[in-house]
Amino acid sequence: MTFVVTDNCIACKYTDCVDSCPVDCFHEGENMLVINPAECIDCGVCVPECPADAIRPDTEEGMEPWVELNARYTQVWPILYSTKEPLPDADEFDGKERKIETLFSDKPAEVAA
Ligand code: SF4
Ligand code: F3S
Repeated sequence: MTFVVTDNCIACKYTDCVDSCPVDCFHEGENMLVINPAECIDCGVCVPECPADAIRPDTEEGMEPWVELNARYTQVWPILYSTKEPLPDADEFDGKERKIETLFSDKPAEVAA
């Protein structure tokens, strides 16, 4: 089992989850994070930290596409080591449905030099 980041992270990226993770599981895309399933120790500590309620156990119904997406982008997005400012319009996008269809970006986050 692992935990995965799901739809409501997209365009919000609050990043409160990051500082709670003891093993630096989170990788950062342009407008969402994903969890590295190979590193996650299933502690669940990050789950209540997400203001968008976007982190779910992979055992929940309908999680297969999210498991795949988290595993895939873990391979290409950089690790985010600490919490930072959310995206500017995070509160506006929090709770919108099916953001994956119109708002998802596959680009990696820009890493500060
Ligand atoms: Fe990190 Fe624990 Fe969340 Fe996994 S469940 S991403 S190990 S805080
Ligand atoms: Fe995303 Fe929630 Fe973390 S919105 S960045 S999973 S705190």
